Amino acid sequence: MSDVAVTASLPGAALDRLAAVHDVRVRPPGPPLSGAELAAFVGGAEACICLLADRVSAEVFASCPRLRVVANYAVGTNNIDLAAARAAGVVVTNTPDVLTEATADLTWSLLLAVARRVVEGDRLVREGRFTGWRPDLLLGTGLQGKTLGVVGLGRIGRAVARRAVAFGMRVLAWSRRPPADVLDTPWEMAGSLDELLSRADVLTLHCPLTPDTRGLLDARRLGLLPAGAMLVNTSRGEVVDEAALVAALEAGRLGGAGLDVYEREPAVHPGLLGRDDVVLLPHLGSATRETRAAMADLAVDNVLNILAGHPPLTPVA
Ligand code: GLV
Ligand code: GLV
Repeated sequence: MSDVAVTASLPGAALDRLAAVHDVRVRPPGPPLSGAELAAFVGGAEACICLLADRVSAEVFASCPRLRVVANYAVGTNNIDLAAARAAGVVVTNTPDVLTEATADLTWSLLLAVARRVVEGDRLVREGRFTGWRPDLLLGTGLQGKTLGVVGLGRIGRAVARRAVAFGMRVLAWSRRPPADVLDTPWEMAGSLDELLSRADVLTLHCPLTPDTRGLLDARRLGLLPAGAMLVNTSRGEVVDEAALVAALEAGRLGGAGLDVYEREPAVHPGLLGRDDVVLLPHLGSATRETRAAMADLAVDNVLNILAGHPPLTPVA
């Protein structure tokens, strides 16, 4: 039996499987943990399952000498000091694959909601302002024949691009490391990010948050988008300079934005909150019952494997 520290209760039955063979401590609901708080919580545990806003800093690895595995309950690992994990010999795992389709569906939910003013329409009806069909009521933007600019062609970017074909959109993609088989797809690869931005009617972001992608969509790059372009972000908020986005919306240069993630999450830039042309979600990308249970199973199986001396299922490179 090993001591396993879990920073939140997880949907599904996975934690019961873990508790059947190990000593599992689950943190009661609370705000995300700082590095020092997480180190104190993990203490002498050999394994930790944590959430995407918990800070798995170098301090955690320095203070928790028995730690062998950190299983992040997320695909993104920007909350973890991976170099410190490597140096400490701690395995880090994430939850790829199981959340790809759910996140792509949510991306399209946001895209369609912005393009067709779904949330504005709902508000209008609830507020008793629907007085009957009108030729000019809440006109949105058609997507057919428009270009979807996809930044990042990992699993999620590709799943979003696949859906675009069914909606009659052209896909223009850009990736730092284009997958080798991308030529087998109907998508066009942009020669540069700037080229993609200058041609995207709808821009959707699917890159990981790294030092290279922090602030990637800054004022200059936002300025390259065609007038009326829409932005969708279900990746990480810090990829977008939120103040620059607000300025572009206020200047009327963009057609709207659909955001699931925020630069200072869970805080939202006040300039976004009052706008009708943005749709704001509380980081729901992977939030289906099926996916959240599958993520829990994967995190638990990674921990079980490491504690049994087997290779992890989904290690982070
Ligand atoms: C969610 O944002 C994740 O990285 O899984
Ligand atoms: C996440 O799984 C990605 O590769 O986009």
